[in-house]
Amino acid sequence: MINMSKFLITGGAGFIGGNFCHYMVNTYPNDQFVCIDALTYAGNLETLEPIINKPNFKFVHENICNRDAVFKLFEEEKFDYVINFAAESHVDRSIENPGIFLQTNIMGTETLMDACRKYGIKRYHQVSTDEVYGDLPLDRPDLFFTENTPIHTSSPYSASKASADLLVQAYHRTFGLPCTISRCSNNYGPYHFPEKLIPLIIKKALANEPLPIYGTGANVRDWLHVYDHCTAIDLIVRKGRDGEVYNIGGHNERTNLEVVKTILKELGKPESLITYVKDRAGHDLRYAMDPTKIMTELGWKPKYTFETGIGPTIKWNLEHQNWINHIISGEYMRFMKENYNR
Ligand code: NAD
Ligand code: DAU
Repeated sequence: MINMSKFLITGGAGFIGGNFCHYMVNTYPNDQFVCIDALTYAGNLETLEPIINKPNFKFVHENICNRDAVFKLFEEEKFDYVINFAAESHVDRSIENPGIFLQTNIMGTETLMDACRKYGIKRYHQVSTDEVYGDLPLDRPDLFFTENTPIHTSSPYSASKASADLLVQAYHRTFGLPCTISRCSNNYGPYHFPEKLIPLIIKKALANEPLPIYGTGANVRDWLHVYDHCTAIDLIVRKGRDGEVYNIGGHNERTNLEVVKTILKELGKPESLITYVKDRAGHDLRYAMDPTKIMTELGWKPKYTFETGIGPTIKWNLEHQNWINHIISGEYMRFMKENYNR
């Protein structure tokens, strides 16, 4: 008899959760995957189209904050593993409207963990971010975030993610909830919502529109291809030590200006499109991950560098103009409604 595991993946209609669903459903045909997503503006069922009819995949349209619905789902499905990607994820939106970030990112995490406690699971995994460590100075390239770097947040988004991390650790210590936390650096790759830097720049450059660079463009981000984030989470969930935090990153630090110029060069577009705009409030200066722990303890190695990952990402965007245009036109929301009617 085949040993089958059942996974709950939350936020699977979003960028990273969607890539993770694709990866897991295709890599583990003998395991079962249930995706729950509230389909906010960032959720897109078209992202799940390639796997939506696979026999080992099921989509449930639900909010992780809906306690009754979440508990019912746990009772029915009896999950072995729960992986929580669902979140409000855009820093700029958290500056405009913090409340929904606290609701989904903190209270949603609490609801899921309460269900895990009640119905029992093998492992709860919280997908967190390097932003919980705050930022590093631009003039100290020798400094990196380790798992022991103190939590020190800047935006309502990062404060909500850090709060969730602390809650996960509290549930582990107080209730013995089996759990792990991963903190990853900036992702890029297929199905990236075009409000974030890389897909936004590709979209605007293709349309010969001005490219908005916050402040001077000197802020540094550490870019990891989403595929490598997926393999890291898979490894942590299966082999990571209970109660541990794992940093994920591949030492691909670039200034925002370097990222934008690379994209312009690949697309054959002029640098004159670059437009400096008002800086983001509280803008973190530099993120840089030390991934030594996951590499030495679990043997994880990224497949892509920024140089090898950015080309295919631009190509994906060029080849999936429909997916992007449906977001810009709002067509993807209509697709969702029709999908449900069907
Ligand atoms: P995203 O905004 O693209 O997707 C989030 C998904 O969660 C969407 O499908 C949305 O509909 C869903 N969602 C939102 N609120 C929900 C709710 N209340 N109930 C159910 N579903 C809900 O985000 P992303 O970039 O894919 O990020 C996924 C996770 O990874 C987040 O937890 C984020 O903090 C973390 N993370 C992101 C990055 C990055 O570079 N994007 C890096 C490190 C960590
Ligand atoms: O580090 C991980 C985090 O990366 C995740 O936790 C977040 O969910 C994810 O959104 C991302 O946050 P950032 O704020 O780093 O990503 P964003 O793409 O919004 O911005 C990247 C950098 O580019 C940042 O320094 C701000 C800048 N920027 C962004 C936009 C959208 C611009 O200069 N112009 C822009 O128009």
